[in-house]
Amino acid sequence: MHNVDIELVEMTLDVMKYAIHRITNESPELGSPRKEEELKKQVGETITPSGIGGENAFHLFRDVLVKATVPIDHPRHLAFVPAAPTRAAIMFDLVTSASSIHGAYWMEGAGGIFCENEAMRWLVELTGMPENAFGVFTSGGSAANLSAMVTAREYWRKTKENQNKKGCLITSVGAHSSIKAMAKVIDADVLLVETDDLMNAEALQGKIDSLDKGTMERVFAVVATGGTTNAGIVDDLNGIAKICKELKLWFHVDAAYGGGALAADSVRHLFNGIEKADSITIDPHKWLFSPYDCGAIIYKDPELAKTAHSQEGSYLDIIKDPGAHGFNPADYQIQLTRRLRGLPLWFSLATHGTDKYKWAVERGIELANLAGELISSRPELELIRPPSLSCVLFRRKGWSANEYNNWTYTNHREGIALVTPSKWKTKEGFETVARFCFINPDTTGEDIKVILDTMK
Ligand SMILES: Cc1ncc(COP(=O)(O)O)c(C=O)c1O
Repeated sequence: MHNVDIELVEMTLDVMKYAIHRITNESPELGSPRKEEELKKQVGETITPSGIGGENAFHLFRDVLVKATVPIDHPRHLAFVPAAPTRAAIMFDLVTSASSIHGAYWMEGAGGIFCENEAMRWLVELTGMPENAFGVFTSGGSAANLSAMVTAREYWRKTKENQNKKGCLITSVGAHSSIKAMAKVIDADVLLVETDDLMNAEALQGKIDSLDKGTMERVFAVVATGGTTNAGIVDDLNGIAKICKELKLWFHVDAAYGGGALAADSVRHLFNGIEKADSITIDPHKWLFSPYDCGAIIYKDPELAKTAHSQEGSYLDIIKDPGAHGFNPADYQIQLTRRLRGLPLWFSLATHGTDKYKWAVERGIELANLAGELISSRPELELIRPPSLSCVLFRRKGWSANEYNNWTYTNHREGIALVTPSKWKTKEGFETVARFCFINPDTTGEDIKVILDTMK
């Protein structure tokens, strides 16, 4: 298995040829899922005692299986939060794998961790957090949010009277589902602030005022959102920061999706107050053009994260020895063994420079505004609210939820686009609406028109 022979050379050439073709392909086929039984029928048994051979396995993947996936970087993939890793970042993902580096500790990963930290410094600078703030790359926003919650909870539990209490955090109804999911992991309760739009200081204060003393004593953190996934709404970060400071609550900002917009001068003011956060989640695999999986968690005081996460073990003692000194990413988030997942971002940033990142993020915002104008000019369509960051919510007048679903499936089946409906709260309940989220700077005005034409 570990031999270097002619088969390996052939497989390497095949793989490189595929990678070059895929990376340079500007309009990858919009694949669609198929039933597991169908795929099994087509590829047969792939895991056998003697193996089916690299060439065979590779061809099955290239000719059948990858076609049952949706390329996230397709210019007309505007559903969920798509992605558009730069070609430089993808190439360096291959290099990261080929280099086999353990990214948990400086002792083994120094050169690679150095690169990650260079990229992290840029991210921290975008937030405007104080000088000692720093962070690490995680597998994504969920892991980043969890790492922040663990740090906040452990900090709160330092006080004797909190040691046996069940923690509780406050967030808004617009927060991402991972906040509730990760709170479950640490067995914390979640209290929701009802908002129609952004969570502001008044709404948060109202929620706090409604709590009884016992519940309030269990609240250890407030989670604001820096760009809701559904609508791109940024909470009133300054107002929320002020309340957190007064009440000594941990202030976390989940900017997993919206954090990329910190690079965009046109919307940077929406994030004022983010610099006061105790921790911030930003996903480079969303709006900073990194391949999956790459999230990031940044702490105002990284020492608190270290206290919460640093693992002990006799076989790990050498890592703490002065001779191995350096930054140990494993100390600041939930994972021990880790891939150097910030390396592709570093390489792409180093290659292109931060100005190109600014431009590419601004392009997503520009596309959202253009979509807004096109929607407003069509009588059958109507904006739900003005575009925010790179999200656009709009209505096809007269459509039922079923018609939105059919629109999704038809566009997908015909290889036109992946666009999905969402929900928007109205006085009557939840309305099904259409949603675009722009990330890929290669998406064009023509792409938007093609999709809108399918709603006539
Ligand atoms: C605001 C927000 N937070 C957290 C997440 C979860 O991130 P991940 O899917 O990388 O775990 C998402 C994902 O869309 C998000 O939009």
